[in-house]
Amino acid sequence: GRVAAVVPAAGSGVRLGAGVPKAFVEVSGRTMLERAVAGLLASGAVDDVVAVVPGDRVAEAEELLAPLRSGDHLVVVTTGGAQRTDSVRNGLAVLTASLARSGTSVHDVVLVHDAARCLTPAAPILRVVEAVRSGEGAVVPVLPVIDTVKQVDAGGYVVGTPDRAALRAVQTPQGFAPDVLLAAYDAAGDVATDDAGLVERLGRRVATVAGDVLSFKITTASDHARALEEVRALEE
Ligand code: CTP
Ligand code: MG
Repeated sequence: GRVAAVVPAAGSGVRLGAGVPKAFVEVSGRTMLERAVAGLLASGAVDDVVAVVPGDRVAEAEELLAPLRSGDHLVVVTTGGAQRTDSVRNGLAVLTASLARSGTSVHDVVLVHDAARCLTPAAPILRVVEAVRSGEGAVVPVLPVIDTVKQVDAGGYVVGTPDRAALRAVQTPQGFAPDVLLAAYDAAGDVATDDAGLVERLGRRVATVAGDVLSFKITTASDHARALEEVRALEE
């Protein structure tokens, strides 16, 4: 079976504040969207990509991603929605529609990967795909949590300190058996901050694999500066 990746890239990037949607901001000469999609394809584990972008940027995204298309790789662009959940849902619909046209279930793994995690290396992508292939319905790449985390009440008072050793910070790409992800999105009424969270709500097991420090999400200007430094270091 083939591996598909839905790449949500339709956010406005308010916290980065670059004046253009975040996925269209360049990191050393290439947009985050290009870097994220190119990274997935370069891993060798991903066959097809559905990029989900703001409605007025579809043509621009198609132009940016055209060089990444090849006979083997399907690269499709579609329009996102108000929340990330809406954008992923649109991407999945496009994926399902193209599956219906082909008449077969060609994908045995579906990844969901933030365009904003545009420096994600191949290794964590391969670990996620491998875990789904080995039978896991849902897989997330994670890192240990460095800071102590407190749970607080509505007034800001601490109500508990979860054991840090049992906590993980979650990255993307998250990987799924297609039927598991589609069922999770079918059941999802509202929004979730990550895709695996919707699978958890179905009472299904979510596995973890090691993430990578380079899979960090570019959210603020300082993250963008860090990304520039990382690219400079990688290119040396
Ligand atoms: N995203 C999306 N559709 C949305 C919101 C977010 O496709 N309606 C995507 C973003 O483009 C990004 C990923 O989801 O690749 C993670 O979201 P985030 O880092 O929050 O990006 P933005 O929403 O663009 O940033 P901000 O919240 O600062 O506006
Ligand atoms: Mg956002």
